[in-house]
Amino acid sequence: MKKSSFSSKVGLIMAAAGGAVGLGNIWKFPYIAGENGGGAFLLVYLLCVLLFGMPLLITEFMIGKRSGKSTYGAFRALSGTTHWQWMSWLCVFTAMVIMGFYFVVTGWCFNYLIEALTNVFHGMDASALAEHFRVVNGNLPRMIGFGVLPVLLTAAVLWFDVNKGIERLSKILMPLLLLMMILMAGRVLMLDGSNIGMQFFFQFDYTKITPHVVMEAMGQCFFSLSIGLGALITYGAYMPKGQNVLAASVQVIVLDTLVAIMAGVIIFPAVFAFGVSPEQGPQLVFVVLPAVLEQMSFAWLSSVLFFGLLCIAALTSTISLMEVAVAFVCEATAASRHPLNRRKSVCLVAALAVVLMILCIVFPAIFDLSDQLTAGFTMPLTALCISIFVGWVLPKSGAGSVLRNTTGLKRRVGQVYLFFLRWIVPLIILMVFLNGLGL
Ligand code: TRP
Repeated sequence: MKKSSFSSKVGLIMAAAGGAVGLGNIWKFPYIAGENGGGAFLLVYLLCVLLFGMPLLITEFMIGKRSGKSTYGAFRALSGTTHWQWMSWLCVFTAMVIMGFYFVVTGWCFNYLIEALTNVFHGMDASALAEHFRVVNGNLPRMIGFGVLPVLLTAAVLWFDVNKGIERLSKILMPLLLLMMILMAGRVLMLDGSNIGMQFFFQFDYTKITPHVVMEAMGQCFFSLSIGLGALITYGAYMPKGQNVLAASVQVIVLDTLVAIMAGVIIFPAVFAFGVSPEQGPQLVFVVLPAVLEQMSFAWLSSVLFFGLLCIAALTSTISLMEVAVAFVCEATAASRHPLNRRKSVCLVAALAVVLMILCIVFPAIFDLSDQLTAGFTMPLTALCISIFVGWVLPKSGAGSVLRNTTGLKRRVGQVYLFFLRWIVPLIILMVFLNGLGL
């Protein structure tokens, strides 16, 4: 991305929402919710979004808007020292680790798109689809090929700087994805037994809320909203001057949450109608969705359209992830003896992403570990540091009020926001960490 701002306020929101809405909503949310008690998870998740998703989103936007820099320069510019530089390292580290497994799943989506095109799923029931996933996933060369494809596409977008095109494209395609999901939900709700799934997803059973559920919900909140690795700092830097940070944050959050809930409304009724387990993990949506699509009128067209849109939703997210690393490499090497320009940085980051992606495919344990390490540890840790940095460290040097002025928050709202950022966010994250350590 150039050092220019987005063409319009809607453009920024669409780009940020396009980065936020991705596999986290459609692939990860349903399977994590399925493993963690359905309704109980949904409730805790929504609380997480309100209690710290919102304040952190605002904070990342405003760090970017105020400093006009991406992660590497932003902490230094705001604090006036290099003491906080290591936070940007934590951010890129997280971005790289997420890319590793995210490209694997994006590869699955591309594989399913190609198979939808050739009508492979026709006549398969849920158990045949589960077996199909196992076979496809066991074919390593194929999986690696399909993983490399989105890496190349993402790198190409960053290389040619065609973000404007992507921005325009996602303005049309993201609403289309939502429309498609509404149609699918409508079809699913007509299936026999779908009401059991709705109960599973919407009935809050308090006894199912365990510390583990809270931890998973927190991680999912970071992952889905794209907070905790500075991705939104970069977007904040491109914010048009007059944009209201609060309004932008609310819109991104509402869109992101809506898509996640929609995914749940499609998956869970279908899970119970087809008699499969909601607790089968990462393969869940790849077993259920093709079966749902087979039930739609114009099944072939619906499948192709849906998986096509899913691939694009995934790509807008990988673009935002890779941009974090690319911008970091450019800025970090700029003053060194071997500065890397944008294109060299893209090559470097893409090559690294391919290596990580292959590791995730060959060693499933690394796939799981990458996910747990980021959603369960490095993202909350970064968020904790950001909340301390902006909530406690900056105000001392008088920068706090400047920051608040940047966001244009009304006095009252500003106070509530600051209270959440200083107290609620760090305390909840600390509690979850202490619990994780078994204390
Ligand atoms: N939020 C995206 C999703 O739900 C994933 C993602 C894209 C992301 N960019 C990010 C997560 C930056 C964390 C940080 O699929």
